[in-house]
Amino acid sequence: MKKLVLLGSTGSIGTQTLEVVDFLAGEWEVIGLTANKNIDLLEEQARKYRPSYLVVMYESLARELEYRLADQRVNILLGLEGLEYLAGLPEADLVINALVGAVGLRPTVAALKAGNKVGLANKESLVIGGELINKYLEENDDFILPIDSEHNALFQILSGHHRDEIKEIILTASGGPFLNLPREGLKDVSVEEALNHPNWNMGCRISIDSATLMNKGLEVIEAHWLFKQPYDKIRVVIHPESIIHSMVEFIDKSIMAELGVADMRIPIQHVLTYPERKWGIGKSLNLLELGKLTFRAPDLEKFPALGLAYAAGREGGSLSVVLNAANEIAVEGFLNKKIPFTDIPRIVEKTMDLHETVAHPDLDEIYEIDKWARRMAEEVLVGCF
Ligand SMILES: NC(=O)c1ccc[n+]([C@@H]2O[C@H](COP(=O)([O-])OP(=O)(O)OC[C@H]3O[C@@H](n4cnc5c(N)ncnc54)[C@H](OP(=O)(O)O)[C@@H]3O)[C@@H](O)[C@H]2O)c1
Repeated sequence: MKKLVLLGSTGSIGTQTLEVVDFLAGEWEVIGLTANKNIDLLEEQARKYRPSYLVVMYESLARELEYRLADQRVNILLGLEGLEYLAGLPEADLVINALVGAVGLRPTVAALKAGNKVGLANKESLVIGGELINKYLEENDDFILPIDSEHNALFQILSGHHRDEIKEIILTASGGPFLNLPREGLKDVSVEEALNHPNWNMGCRISIDSATLMNKGLEVIEAHWLFKQPYDKIRVVIHPESIIHSMVEFIDKSIMAELGVADMRIPIQHVLTYPERKWGIGKSLNLLELGKLTFRAPDLEKFPALGLAYAAGREGGSLSVVLNAANEIAVEGFLNKKIPFTDIPRIVEKTMDLHETVAHPDLDEIYEIDKWARRMAEEVLVGCF
């Protein structure tokens, strides 16, 4: 059996990964699982999969988990160091990074440094540390297997093609729950409405990011680093049905697309069986039931977050670290009902304005800038700027 480390096992991608592991019975042995705070689910997972290692982010929770799992042989590690340790385990055949947020970068780097393959759901790793990560990928392009459905689609489409053959990458976006809401209505939307994504059932943070289109912006930056294309060659198209997960137009004007039902277990399975294909866990797409697919341009005035992400990506250096950190703070503020929905991009833009870009930040500088940006965004949020 191949050995799997799963970072963020209690989240939406984490739990779906374990469903696929169950479906592929006998192929994967789970050797490491992690959570932030949800030790109830982590305990349940530990009892089922019997991993050698667990990580939680708080000392008191680690002690509590040790007490609860006293009858089981398992090493319980703590915090970011624990995550890095698991990511770098020499016996791991694959590390799936399903953490949410900037915290994911260090474990991704630790895995790549150790020569481990990474199934990457944590897009923030590439958004804030794309340049750094690419240093480890120079000779091993497939050391990152993307799980994000759009990037997994692009990875599949581009396999066997040279990057010079790409005319344009077309990232599809559902448009989120407010696609058809008039712009004036956005300021009054509730947290519950924003979390109610029309096609995908995801974690809270990415659901809000989908509603602001920041998620698509982060994916533009992710695609830039993964497929090494300039921003002018990465276009976003709204496709409300979420059936085409992305497309590539090649220089000969052929367009290739990857289609399927909206089910994250499909790209997760692709990564777990790569480079082979095995009978799939998901449902087949019924094109006749579907009837038609529609497309339109994104409204950048209504959804300024997408434009901010392009601006940060084009500027390069540390600005996308600030974009991501300020967005994390603003989304938290909205989820905690401290600010209206329309303040999310406003807080991000203001924090970006306050930043002087550092051209090639190293890992420590990235986390310093991340901290600075969170502090500034908090101040913007409470009205100091
Ligand atoms: N969900 C999707 O369908 C989807 C699709 C494409 C890409 N992605 C990307 O995949 C990543 C994970 O998304 P998700 O929706 O699965 O998120 P999620 O449901 O919020 O789960 C995140 C996981 O990370 C853990 N975690 C949260 N904050 C942490 C911290 N500060 N330190 C350590 N661990 C922490 C959580 O633990 P607790 O459970 O204890 O909080 C949980 O295990 C994100 O980058 C997202 O953009 C998600």
